[in-house]
Amino acid sequence: MSTLISIILIILLCVLNPAYGYHMSLRAECHFKRDMKDLELIRTYNFNKFEFIRYNSTLGKYVGFNTVGQQNAEAWNNNPAQLQQMKVELDRYCRNNAGNEISAITEKSVPPQVHVRSVKKGTGVHPTVLMCSAYGFYPKLIKLTWLSDGQPLTSDVTSTEELADGDWYYQIHSRLDYIPKSGEKISCVVEHASFSRPMTFELGPSVSESDTNKIAIGASGLVLGVILAAAGLIYYKKKSTGRILVPH
Ligand SMILES: *[C@@H]1O[C@H](CO)[C@@H](O)[C@H](O)[C@H]1NC(C)=O
Repeated sequence: MSTLISIILIILLCVLNPAYGYHMSLRAECHFKRDMKDLELIRTYNFNKFEFIRYNSTLGKYVGFNTVGQQNAEAWNNNPAQLQQMKVELDRYCRNNAGNEISAITEKSVPPQVHVRSVKKGTGVHPTVLMCSAYGFYPKLIKLTWLSDGQPLTSDVTSTEELADGDWYYQIHSRLDYIPKSGEKISCVVEHASFSRPMTFELGPSVSESDTNKIAIGASGLVLGVILAAAGLIYYKKKSTGRILVPH
């Protein structure tokens, strides 16, 4: 009786305490490379965390990563029925799903609302800060890149992750710190499943240039206004004092 209890206890310990256990897993992955028709089936065999055999449909064979794995891989690679079975799996598992559920999901895409704006003007050595924000898009995968006169800018770019709005939509923000050059055209390029090609969003002409122009026009207007007002005042004063001085 007590032996039975000890055996049950040992079994319970083994089941409940994962530190005593071993774990084997078999995973099948479908990789879609260029499009939904360019498929690759990867089947991996893991023991605890070690991957010991992998089938790659592009290679069309198994590869082993330890002695046991190599022995099995060799046996399976020399078995035409086993290799044929994997070809069937590529169709049954990858091609079938690509044609049905997955395309039904990816077809539901919502384009982002993109805003490119200047959030901080540069002064001397301090760079100008631009922000390219994409709002309300689906699915999550997106790519934002900065261009200066058509050339990609990679340094001084920081980006958030895709942030979940909690309602299936996402937003993302990319920040560019740069020293503006006169006449330079900065744009933000967005790649997303909802667009058939990369879309370019312009900031318009160089921030500093258009701003200096605006300031110059405003300042000239102010100076002209002050001169005219002063002239008017002097003229008015002269006229009124002149009138008083005229004797009757
Ligand atoms: C599968 O094999 C191909 C051809 O060697 C290789 O380019 C590809 O990266 C492999 N895939 C994986 C996931 O290992």
